[in-house]
Amino acid sequence: MTGVPAPGALDGRVAIVTGAARGIGAATAAHLAVLGARVAVTDKDGDGAQAVAEALGGAGHDTVGLPCDVAEPDAVAAMVAAVGAHFGGVDLLDHNAAWTDFRTDRDAEEVDLDTWDRVLRTNATGGLVLVREVLPRMRARGGGAIVLISSGSASIGEHRRVAYGVSKAAIEQLGRHVAARYGRDGIRCNVVAPGFILTETAARGVPEAGRLRLAEQNPLGRLGTPDDIAHVVGFLLSDSAAFVNGQVLRVDGGLAIAPRLAGID
Ligand SMILES: NC(=O)c1ccc[n+]([C@@H]2O[C@H](COP(=O)([O-])OP(=O)(O)OC[C@H]3O[C@@H](n4cnc5c(N)ncnc54)[C@H](O)[C@@H]3O)[C@@H](O)[C@H]2O)c1
Repeated sequence: MTGVPAPGALDGRVAIVTGAARGIGAATAAHLAVLGARVAVTDKDGDGAQAVAEALGGAGHDTVGLPCDVAEPDAVAAMVAAVGAHFGGVDLLDHNAAWTDFRTDRDAEEVDLDTWDRVLRTNATGGLVLVREVLPRMRARGGGAIVLISSGSASIGEHRRVAYGVSKAAIEQLGRHVAARYGRDGIRCNVVAPGFILTETAARGVPEAGRLRLAEQNPLGRLGTPDDIAHVVGFLLSDSAAFVNGQVLRVDGGLAIAPRLAGID
């Protein structure tokens, strides 16, 4: 019998978290470490990744910090090889890194094409390349589990951030593909679609008045925290979710299913 993952649930597993220098990725790296995983904390910001890994190491966890720009396939291959060499294999992947530029990722007419390319290369192609690099290593260990981080933006029609929304929709389809194609290898893949989660980046994109409105509209009456996402990723990567495969799990407090209609309620 397995239940809710507790400390020790990921004992012996090796996990890679991308975009883990701050925000949701850093919280997820910490949570996976608490569950017992040996964690590779990776980020384009190598110093940031190193600082998170050192803090976790100071708390007694087995971690390593590595620089990795997921938009560069050679860097991804080198990082995954380094993790394999350091820990002896790879069992778990959380592709959390993502990028957009609110100023240049606009509507279909205005989106800057360099931004479009970079967003897709980081968020979507980065996911494909990571998956491609970890699959043989997971197969060699008899299986593994993958979580790809999407966004509520993947399934709504936003007025702006067209590149970001398209990249996240692509990640959701990649997740279903991996789940269907590699389940027989003992590899599960699921997607987590966060709603508004209060990180520094998210706060920069939505001014305070907008954040207050979002909290007010949420059925739970608050914004999400990085731990809200980290705990769900920990569950999906653990054996507690052994029969969960190919799903997109919205973690938004119920915001998307309970839109408030201005002036009606
Ligand atoms: N915060 C939210 O409200 C929210 C909502 C929906 C989805 N998400 C998703 O959750 C994830 C984390 O969001 P966050 O708010 O913690 O972001 P964040 O900006 O706080 O952290 C993202 C990290 O990714 C790193 N990164 C960016 N480009 C990279 C690249 N090319 N290679 C490697 N690392 C790179 C950054 O250096 C940063 O450390 C992202 O996938 C984001 O799209 C966040």
